[in-house]
Amino acid sequence: MAVLITGGAGFIGSHTCVELLEAGREIVVLDNFSNSKPEALKRIQQITGKDFKFYEADLLDRCGIERVFQQNEIDSVIHFAGLKAVGESCHIPLQYYHNNLTGTLLLCQVMEKHKCKKIVFSSSATVYGMHNTAPFREDMPLSATNPYGQTKLMIEQILTDLYRADPEWSVALLRYFNPIGAHKSGLLGEDPNGIPNNLLPYISQVATGKLKELAVFGDDYDTPDGTGVRDYIHVVDLAQGHLAALDYITGNTGVEAINLGTGKGYSVLDVLHAFEEACGKKLPHHIAPRRPGDIATCYADPSKAKQLLNWEAKRTLADMCADGWNFSKNNPNGL
Ligand code: WQD
Repeated sequence: MAVLITGGAGFIGSHTCVELLEAGREIVVLDNFSNSKPEALKRIQQITGKDFKFYEADLLDRCGIERVFQQNEIDSVIHFAGLKAVGESCHIPLQYYHNNLTGTLLLCQVMEKHKCKKIVFSSSATVYGMHNTAPFREDMPLSATNPYGQTKLMIEQILTDLYRADPEWSVALLRYFNPIGAHKSGLLGEDPNGIPNNLLPYISQVATGKLKELAVFGDDYDTPDGTGVRDYIHVVDLAQGHLAALDYITGNTGVEAINLGTGKGYSVLDVLHAFEEACGKKLPHHIAPRRPGDIATCYADPSKAKQLLNWEAKRTLADMCADGWNFSKNNPNGL
C-alpha cells in the first residue's frame, strides 16, 4: 500500500518524501512541475537511496489522477499540490480558485471511487486572518484576506463536509506557519520561481549576491522592534509533522485541524541577523513601507499537535538559517 504525495517535487513536498522514504513508507509522487523541478526528484533519491514511482500529471486532468489509482494501491494521500503566492492570487483569482479547488475536488472524487478515504491537507496559518490575537489556536474564528487564503479555507470546508457525509473519512488539516530552512545535506531546499515573495528565499538571494538588498516591509508595527513577527518552522520539522499526521489518520476517522508551528515568534530583523550569523556577512537592507495585507504578529499555539500527534518542532532559528544557507551556497541558481 502506498501514500500518494501530490506536489511531491515542491519545497515541503520533497522534504516530506524524504522523511516518508526514510521511515520505510512506499510513496507515489504526482507533480506538474508548475512550481518545482524534476531535479528535486533526483535529489530525493540521492538522499534516501530509494526509488519511487512518479507521475507528471495535473490534478485538473481527472484521467491522470485515475491512472495513478488504477496502477497503484493508494491507501492515503498527502495533498500539497496547489498555487500558493498570496500576491499573485489577488491578480489572477480565477486561476487560483480553478486550480486549487477543482484540482482538490477531482482528487477527492477519484479517492472516493477507489475507497481511499485518508487525506492530509496542506493548509496554512493564513486561515486565521487579521482578527485573531496570537498565539493562534485551532478553534479560533477563521477568515481569509486574499484568494489564496480563501482557497485554503474552502478546501478545509470541502474536506469537513466530505467527512460529515461519510464518517469513514480521516482528514488532517495541517496549518503551516512559516516553513524555512533546508535538508541538512544541502541537496534540497526552497527554490522559488522568479523574484521571491517570502522573506527567507529573498534574504538567501541577497546573501548569494543574486539580489541587491532586502526591503524590510515596515518597522512601525506593534512588535518589540517594530518589524513583523512570524513563527518560522524548519521544513524538516514540518515534514516530520506530516508523518505523524499520517500515522494519526491511519488509526482515526474524523477531521482535525492542527497547527504546525514552533510557538515562538521572531521579527524580520531577528531573522536577518540570524542569517547574517549563518552566512558570516552583513546583509544590506533598508526599511520600506508596510506590505498591504501583512499582519503584525503571527505565531502558533502548538499544543494540539503535541497532544494529538506527539509531535513538536525541535530545530532552532539558527538551525533553519544554517541549513538554508548551506542549500543556497551549494545551489546558487536553485535546483
Ligand atoms: C514574513 C515577514 C513580511 C519579504 C506567507 C503566506 C503564508 C505562507 C507563508 C503559504 C513579514 C516580511 C517579507 C520581504 C519583508 N505561504 N518580509 N521583506 O507573509 O508571513 O506568509 O508565506 O502557505 O500563507 O501568507 O511570509 O515570508 O512573505 O513574510 O520584510 O522581502 O517578512 O512583511 O513580516 P508571510 P513572508
